[in-house]
Amino acid sequence: MKRISLLTVASGIIVLAACTAEKPVEKKSLLLQHEDEITELISQMTLEEKVNMLHGKNMFSSAGVERLGIADMQYADGPFGIREEMEPHSWNSLGLTTDSATFYPTGSALAATWSEDLAYRYGVGMAKEARLRGKDMILGPAINIQRLPTGGRTYEYLSEDPLLSAALSVKYTLGAQDNGAAVCLKHYALNNQEDARGSVNVKVSQRAMREIYLPPFEAAVKEGDAYGVMAAYNKVEGDWCSENDMLLNRILRDEWGFRGIVISDWGGVHSTVKALQNGLNVEMPGSRYFGQALLDSVKSGAVSDSIIDIRVREILRVRLTVKPVPEAEANQVMTSQPEQQQIAYDIAKRSIVLLKNENKLLPIQAEKVKSIAVIGDNAVRTQALGGVGAGVKALYEVTPLAGITKQFEGSGITIKWAQGYAEYSKRDRESRVSPYTNADPKLMDEAVSLAKESDLVIFVGGNNREVETEGRDRNAITLPMGQDELLKALSAVNPNIVTVIVSGAPVDLRVVQETSPAILMSWFNGSEGGTALADVLSGEISPSGKLPFTLPIRLEDSPAYSLNVYPQEMPQRQGDIFTNLVNRRNAAQLGGPDAEYAEDIFVGYRWFDTKEVPVLYPFGHGLSYSYFNYLNLEVDMDDDNLVAEVKLRNTGKYDGEEVVQLYVRRPDSKIERPLQELKGFQRIHLQAGETGSVKIQVPMKHLRHWDEAAWDWQLEPGTVEIIVGSSSKDGRIQMETEI
Ligand code: GLC
Repeated sequence: MKRISLLTVASGIIVLAACTAEKPVEKKSLLLQHEDEITELISQMTLEEKVNMLHGKNMFSSAGVERLGIADMQYADGPFGIREEMEPHSWNSLGLTTDSATFYPTGSALAATWSEDLAYRYGVGMAKEARLRGKDMILGPAINIQRLPTGGRTYEYLSEDPLLSAALSVKYTLGAQDNGAAVCLKHYALNNQEDARGSVNVKVSQRAMREIYLPPFEAAVKEGDAYGVMAAYNKVEGDWCSENDMLLNRILRDEWGFRGIVISDWGGVHSTVKALQNGLNVEMPGSRYFGQALLDSVKSGAVSDSIIDIRVREILRVRLTVKPVPEAEANQVMTSQPEQQQIAYDIAKRSIVLLKNENKLLPIQAEKVKSIAVIGDNAVRTQALGGVGAGVKALYEVTPLAGITKQFEGSGITIKWAQGYAEYSKRDRESRVSPYTNADPKLMDEAVSLAKESDLVIFVGGNNREVETEGRDRNAITLPMGQDELLKALSAVNPNIVTVIVSGAPVDLRVVQETSPAILMSWFNGSEGGTALADVLSGEISPSGKLPFTLPIRLEDSPAYSLNVYPQEMPQRQGDIFTNLVNRRNAAQLGGPDAEYAEDIFVGYRWFDTKEVPVLYPFGHGLSYSYFNYLNLEVDMDDDNLVAEVKLRNTGKYDGEEVVQLYVRRPDSKIERPLQELKGFQRIHLQAGETGSVKIQVPMKHLRHWDEAAWDWQLEPGTVEIIVGSSSKDGRIQMETEI
């Protein structure tokens, strides 16, 4: 193997030398440590006992074999906190008093930290609370690519970029599984929209699937050794994910070496024989397809005993690797504990993105500001629960107003609150009232009066968990409840506006941009979200988050909208699979729309950069109260890795953290490619005036593209431009090399 050492780059010209390196050894799954014991167990099991393991027992459990001392598998929603205990066969809470959990910043907030260390700790925290609740498998992380700014679960997912999503998925997986809980990567695969999620058929090129949508799953399986995968509701190229041989057998098991279990999404099974043959282990919940129907199928010979034994083996691998929590030990202490609350706080502090800070309005200078108007329903709204699906019965949640009030108490600053705009409520959502309404005149007047008499306005806007929800996409990115109209009225009486956006997905910030000298993205940011926000506003910490997705100027500029392939015409009113049992069957029989992924690999910034479509704030953007000077770039390369060493200095007067990003361009490529792609990143803490270095390792295999003709990955020789900087549009230092 030739190792090519590149000397320090001077004017972009490089000198090469040669030496050798070893091939990495394939990682063996921890799940393979019990094969003989499993063989023995299977030999003792009856057919009924085997089949009984392959479907739901309760709403969130599947059976073991009590006779043989094999415990049931206990599942718990994630992915941003361990869900409260439900009644065995319903969606109703069991009403325990010890199952209040830590509400972690949701996926897009975790991704905004660009921190693998924090993703690992996220998994640790989730596992510790899962175990306290007696759970074996966390139904998370949720790692689908954010293809649509309006996607209902964009807040739950991580990023529009596959590398950032993959890196964090691996660490979340390792953190959880190192601490005794299995993950269940979801939703495999291409669950990128909520509208008609139970029937939509995704039509996507193999290259886009391999380069964009599968990498987070592939990495978490190959590098994270994930024990579980959840098959998505949708179809991919005509086959339901829960019975998709290409996805479940050929790619997941044969190519990636997955040795764990595939469970269905809840109600996402559509056959018995095909689903079992094509790779599904457990039907959840219930037993419509994998109960008596499966038993009959085996007895009739339609399903072989050997495939049953394979599916059972895969379950027993997880069962014998994840030690069950004795029932008597579950739910004995409060789920949320200080150690986990600290993890949520550390993540929230590094997730907040400073988009803009004109006239250094931030951090708030107590000597200059004597009165603050905190305006917005989101200032007092908690985000742990809401909408359809997973949420967290949080032990507590510090709201923005509570955090700000606590931070500034005793400072001599008076803080007053006005709602400003009405809450978009559960009732509104369920009665399908649009969140895009005019401002409430009374609320607006109250807010304007308060703004007029205050030195500073902190406007807390954005969405809430009824606006962004599983089961339905938004049909706009407009700020709801007349916030734009309110902001214009506020800025007419007070120019000193800090706008804080509480949302998990992109929103239209054009009016915010015009009216607010300072803008922060503060996410659905967990139990300590309000504390973290106050830390940033006060300058206790310098903001260091970076956007995990593009903020477009207009929704219509984003790829699927621009190509008019989303939203799709619905064949008939498709209630969500969840809220309408009948719909579940309708979806199967009537079929849903095709989702044409016409933008192909040009998702997110790949689209905007390549098509030269201007954006409001680019992928990777995030300011600090400090400034980081990029001083030097050195690159060392062998056949397996390219390693970039970047030296930078914090030239500001605040200690801060920078996320150094590495993008690659292929200017002389013979194939169609995005203008640039993220290939590495590293966060670094630097005190004011301090100089430091980061090393970013880019495996050469990450420079490959999927060649459809060869049906394999290919490394195209040619020029490689390496751009290192502070965002996808803020390259600070670059060099060229050849492969
Ligand atoms: C839902 C979601 C999935 C969740 C499951 C159990 O439909 O799609 O993410 O884990 O049901 O609540």
